[in-house]
Order: sequence, then structure tokens, then C-alpha cells
Amino acid sequence: MSGYVPGEQPVDLKIVKLNTNENPYPPSPRIRDLMAKFDLEALRRYPDPVSRSLRRVIADLHGCVPEQVFVGNGSDEILALCTRAFVEDTGSIGYFNPSYSLYPVLAAIRDVATRPVELGNDFGWRMPPDYTGSLFFLTNPNAPTGVLYPQNAIRAFCEQFQGVVLIDEAYVDFSSAHCMELALEFDQVLVMRTLSKSYSLAGLRMGYAVGAAPLIQALLKIKDSYNLNRLTQEIAVTALQDQSAMRANVERIKQTRRRLAAELEKLGFAGFSSEANFLWVKPPRISASALYQSLFDRRILVRYFSGPRTSDYLRITVGTDAQADVLLDALCRILGGH
Ligand SMILES: Cc1ncc(COP(=O)(O)O)c(C=O)c1O
Repeated sequence: MSGYVPGEQPVDLKIVKLNTNENPYPPSPRIRDLMAKFDLEALRRYPDPVSRSLRRVIADLHGCVPEQVFVGNGSDEILALCTRAFVEDTGSIGYFNPSYSLYPVLAAIRDVATRPVELGNDFGWRMPPDYTGSLFFLTNPNAPTGVLYPQNAIRAFCEQFQGVVLIDEAYVDFSSAHCMELALEFDQVLVMRTLSKSYSLAGLRMGYAVGAAPLIQALLKIKDSYNLNRLTQEIAVTALQDQSAMRANVERIKQTRRRLAAELEKLGFAGFSSEANFLWVKPPRISASALYQSLFDRRILVRYFSGPRTSDYLRITVGTDAQADVLLDALCRILGGH
């Protein structure tokens, strides 16, 4: 099998890094105070294996009980655990194509069948009416496209699908709607979030899933005993309790997103209305792979996915306004030569 290839993490910090949808702004300033007061002595001991304080904070945030919350070492860990908890050897894993490129890799690791659902040219909602499977990874808003699917279509799918639906809301804080109520209502639906994007904590590795207690119980049974380290648990509590810091960063990114999308359109890029912290755009007069390379040569890193559905597009993370200026300037120069 081919392993998952994460976006590059260059050591050169001068690179304009718009390739892995990280947040360009710092996380909650309360984390600095927490770290200053942190008792190093506490690291002698193992952390709480079931992250009780953290799960209580998340439960309060979403109006449920801690038994309905699972926390993972990044949401990637939760995706992997779901393939082990909810799929029999003869079962199947579904997801949209294109979507998060880790899903087929996890299915290959688990050695089970995949049932990808092809999206149309507009990358909008396309679910066959009688679709079946054991587990469906439903990314909303979708990645790498940024397209948000209609809630009524997702609800109708959850009503009909017999397996477990994991709604991957990694980017939902940047969008206008979410599906958390489905996780609280259905007994086979999980909604997953991450602190890596809107909370500016990709380096922390913390994600969580909310859903019916028996699903959460299944995940708890098979996880590593101490899957979340002590520092991650404490920092995550502090970050989640400072919603206003997260919201302020999200608003800044949404403003830059509007501006960047408008400027790219003026330059002739074709794209889709994004509800995430990235734009999915097709360049004019130059192939996406050539543009990726030209930008790379100018020390600007964006994401290019080869393959039949994705190779005409670039995924560009929305960074700061200053980063957008550098990017737009480079694009004018490159496209001017074409
Ligand atoms: C759709 C989607 N789900 C999950 C993840 C994983 O996030 P985490 O950093 O929480 O593992 C990503 C990361 O890029 C993503 O794009």
C-alpha cells in the first residue's frame, strides 16, 4: 500500500506556508499563563487515561454529557480508531471523492473495501439514494474543496444509512452551519472537531468526537491507554474555554478569505465559494502543477494534489493579509508571463 503523504513542513520559517491549513494567528493567550504556572512535577505521573476534565468541558460546550465525548491525539487518531471499531473485515468504508486523502489510506491499513462516492464537476452533494456501507466519512465543509453541503441532505442521509456516519467538521468554525445536533440525535452519527485549525493548535494534536454513548464506549475500549498526554489535556481545556480568542482569529481569517477570493477571481482563477480556511482554485493560462512549482520557487508553499479529480486545482490556505499580499504579487508576476 502507499502511505499517507502529509503536506510539507519546511524548517525554513521564512517560507510563506499556505499548504496545510494551519492558522496564522497565535492560540489563546491564556495558554501562556497556564504554561508559566505548570508544575513540572506533574509530568512524573501518567495522565488521566480518559481525559475527564477535558471531556467535561467539551460536553458543556455542546450540551451533552462526557459519556458522549471521545478525545483523540489529533482527529486523525479518531478516524483510525473508527475504522477499527465500526468496520467488520467484510465491511466497507465510504467517503466522497475528492475528500480528505487520508480516508482511503486508513481503509487500506485496515484492509477493508472502500466505496467512494464520486462528486460532480461542481463538487456539490452527490449521494446515491440507496448507498450502503459500514462507515462513511462525511467531510463538511469538504476538503480540499471548501464546499459546505446542505444540512437537510446530510440529515436525510443519516436517516437512511445503516452504518456509522462520521461527520468530519475539521473546518466548521469557518463556515455558516454545523451538524452537531445530528450527533446528539442519532445513535449512529458522530461529529468530529479538531483544535488544529480554528484554535491554532495543530502542534498540540487534539481532536474530539461527539455522539451516542455506545459509540464513544466502543472507541474508549480500543484506544491506547494514555492517548492524550497531560500537557495536551490541560492546554486543550484552556483553549476550549477561551471561545472568544478562537472566534476573533476566525473572523480575521474569514475577512482575508473574502478579499483573497475576490482578488483571485479578478486574476482569472475559477473557484468555489469556500466555507473553510482555504480556497480551492483553478488557475488561468497555466497548469496547477506548473503554478505550484513557480510559487514554490518563490518560497510560497501551497497544496497540489495529483490525480484525475484534483490535478487542475490548487488548495491555498488563507493566511494573514500580509501573506495574501505576497501571494497575489507573485501570482501577478507569474501569470503576467503567461
Ligand atoms: C478533513 C480533515 N479531517 C481531519 C484532519 C486532521 O486533523 P488533526 O490535526 O486533528 O489530526 C484534517 C487535517 O488536515 C482534515 O483536513
